[in-house]
Amino acid sequence: MPVATACANIALVKYWGKRDTKLNLPAAGSLSVTLDALRTWTSIELDPAAASDAMVLDGRQREGKELSRASKFLDLIRPAGAPRARIVTRSAFPTAAGLASSASGFAALAVAGSAAYGGTSEPRALSVLARRGSGSAARSIFGGFARWDAGVRDDGTDSCARPLEGVTLELAAAIAVARAGEKEIGSTDGMEATRETSPYHAAWLAQVDRDLATCEAALRGKDWDALAGVVEGSCLAMHANAMAARPGILYFRAPTLWAIERVRALRKAGTPVMFTVDAGPHVVAFTPPAHLEAVAKALGEHPEVDRVITSTIGGPASLIERFPS
Ligand code: DP6
Repeated sequence: MPVATACANIALVKYWGKRDTKLNLPAAGSLSVTLDALRTWTSIELDPAAASDAMVLDGRQREGKELSRASKFLDLIRPAGAPRARIVTRSAFPTAAGLASSASGFAALAVAGSAAYGGTSEPRALSVLARRGSGSAARSIFGGFARWDAGVRDDGTDSCARPLEGVTLELAAAIAVARAGEKEIGSTDGMEATRETSPYHAAWLAQVDRDLATCEAALRGKDWDALAGVVEGSCLAMHANAMAARPGILYFRAPTLWAIERVRALRKAGTPVMFTVDAGPHVVAFTPPAHLEAVAKALGEHPEVDRVITSTIGGPASLIERFPS
């Protein structure tokens, strides 16, 4: 029974907008770092007696939308007439909190599913496959820093991530998990509504290409100031674009703004640190490992920050011997 593990990733240059919603083809590239603490494990057992797939996620049997999304994904891999699957999946972090769980989830499912059904084990092909489950999952096939090229082909075969070879910047992350209910609008719907209604969308897409070049150069040059400029710029531009949709999409909550100000105050006082925020209220602060403890402590001081998860850079998605106990 194949068991796979994959880490979620956080984008330094964001993906926000598709050119093809069915194939999850992005309108622009993106660049991310994989985080070790945001890890998912997934096993797949083929069950010749079962009439349909089954899924246990974080200890609970799932039906409905969650199961059907996983099942449709496995349909991309399994040969006609192949047995149904029993999927068991678990994450080391709260999946309902909107912490990029679809990225680690679909990367792990791509690796375990391909192994179970005799599919590919080639990373580029796995990245193309994982992308079909969730766009950002394309980047979680690789460890460290990964760049996802938008690609130009209609069939999406050239739209996959690649590792940024030779980038050795040591970076760690502190994630301020904000107290909040379920998010109002998920990233899939949020980016589509933005594409359809935001007057800023074309400007956003034009900026992404410039940001990708700036970000890659800053990473290679270990230039923390330039990196902070582009990472925070990409995050705020993505959110500005979403906020300008009609009706506006606002992921920030009170602790989000508080944490952003906190990160900027720390930087002003001399700590190399920068923030980013995905489609939710949580703030991710990137800093060199030597500053991680102090940054995490500072972010935990807000009463509505439930916990701060700290992480180093994660490795690639892979097959492992067994589920961790
Ligand atoms: C804000 O990959 O979750 O995290 O392709 O529709 O599944 P789908 O979207 P998803 O979007 C991620 C959006 C983001 C930015 C990023 O990770 O680049």
